[in-house]
Amino acid sequence: MKAVTWHGTGDVRVDDVPEPKIEQPTDAIVRITSTAICGSDLHLLDVMGPYLDEGDVLGHEPMGIVEEVGQEAAAHLSPGDRVVVPFNISCGTCWMCERQRFAQCETTQNREHGTGASLFGYTKLYGQVPGGQAEYLRVPMADFGPIKVPEGPPDERFLFLSDVLPTAWQAVEYADIPKGGSVTVFGLGPIGQMSSRIAAHRGARVIAVDLVPDRLEMARRHGVEVLDLDEHEDVAASIRELTDGRGTDSVIDAVGMEAHGNPVVDFTQRLVGMLPDRAAQAVMEHAGVDRLQALQQSVETVCRGGTISIIGVYGGTADPINMLQLFDKGVKLAMGQAHVKRWVDDLMPLVLDESDPLGVEDLCTHRLPLEQAPHAYEIFKEKEDGAIKIVLQP
Ligand SMILES: NC(=O)c1ccc[n+]([C@@H]2O[C@H](COP(=O)([O-])OP(=O)(O)OC[C@H]3O[C@@H](n4cnc5c(N)ncnc54)[C@H](O)[C@@H]3O)[C@@H](O)[C@H]2O)c1
Ligand SMILES: [Zn+2]
Ligand SMILES: [Zn+2]
Repeated sequence: MKAVTWHGTGDVRVDDVPEPKIEQPTDAIVRITSTAICGSDLHLLDVMGPYLDEGDVLGHEPMGIVEEVGQEAAAHLSPGDRVVVPFNISCGTCWMCERQRFAQCETTQNREHGTGASLFGYTKLYGQVPGGQAEYLRVPMADFGPIKVPEGPPDERFLFLSDVLPTAWQAVEYADIPKGGSVTVFGLGPIGQMSSRIAAHRGARVIAVDLVPDRLEMARRHGVEVLDLDEHEDVAASIRELTDGRGTDSVIDAVGMEAHGNPVVDFTQRLVGMLPDRAAQAVMEHAGVDRLQALQQSVETVCRGGTISIIGVYGGTADPINMLQLFDKGVKLAMGQAHVKRWVDDLMPLVLDESDPLGVEDLCTHRLPLEQAPHAYEIFKEKEDGAIKIVLQP
């Protein structure tokens, strides 16, 4: 079958790989009909390279039709079912799953790396499980994971339940915006777009910041107040001006470690991409590899006593962060990988609603055949051609 594979820094290809087979009685095989590219996939192109092997299949935002089901998944799924596959692989029954901390599932945790639950298509740190940018996907723990969706509406109505929607929902939950309060969203990639829309849908005043015109424009047409980072010398000060001098009650950092502009860390990130794996892993473990602009902006923007919800991914173990300011302002911090299935019951009525209250059908900017994945990664990474969310169709 055809699959999107990793071959080194910035090098993604479409290869012929063996079709997956049922390996465990809890597995299912899904024929993929739509599969999206995520901002998290961009970290694999360079910073996270030391934790991938050539040929690893990427992708963690797939949906499709169940082809085959292992014996123990048969009570949950049947061939022909239309399903969305959550990006985390969780068992549904362990201590963590019982508490709905699905991203920390103890059955699939990666203890040798000290990391949480396995993820599809996401490095040795997260189980090195073949991903969903492929014609077929083996889904482990299929007795719990896949989300059944009805026939009829187009894939895009449901596809973003795999990651973007639950992630954005969690970002807003963790932001703990007081009733009638305000939130700043840094970053208007897919996660920031949906975080903004969900926060507005739940009644908050939303101010969002990015520096890419099409992304600002998309947010604007969904009723969000936007600021262009390039037009504000001190964006936190500009937001304070809009909020009686206090800053917003909450801030969502939907940017993460590849924030725009920091020459020193830029160099470290490129270095990590060039070194052999062992040396690069050592740099990752001992140097600050995150660009912290967005996090620093968040600390400066949040109202005293407010909350910062970090949903963008960070990966450095030695990042310098401004403890004085965080402590003095009395900021609450919440962060982490989304517990996808925890938020599906909140989201399902919204994606099934004919009026499309979250505008899920206005997020994807490009639908391309799987074969065009290298081009798709390129325009998404470079933010060219108006690319905001790209869906590949095998
Ligand atoms: N926690 C989770 O479970 C989870 C799930 C999915 C994605 N993510 C992470 O969320 C982040 C966003 O994902 P995405 O798909 O929207 O990616 P993306 O790369 O499309 O979006 C990032 C956006 O941030 C903007 N940006 C860069 N620097 C900025 C700055 N200093 N201030 C304001 N905006 C800035 C960019 O222009 C871009 O629009 C990534 O780090 C991704 O890994 C986390
Ligand atoms: Zn994703
Ligand atoms: Zn579990």
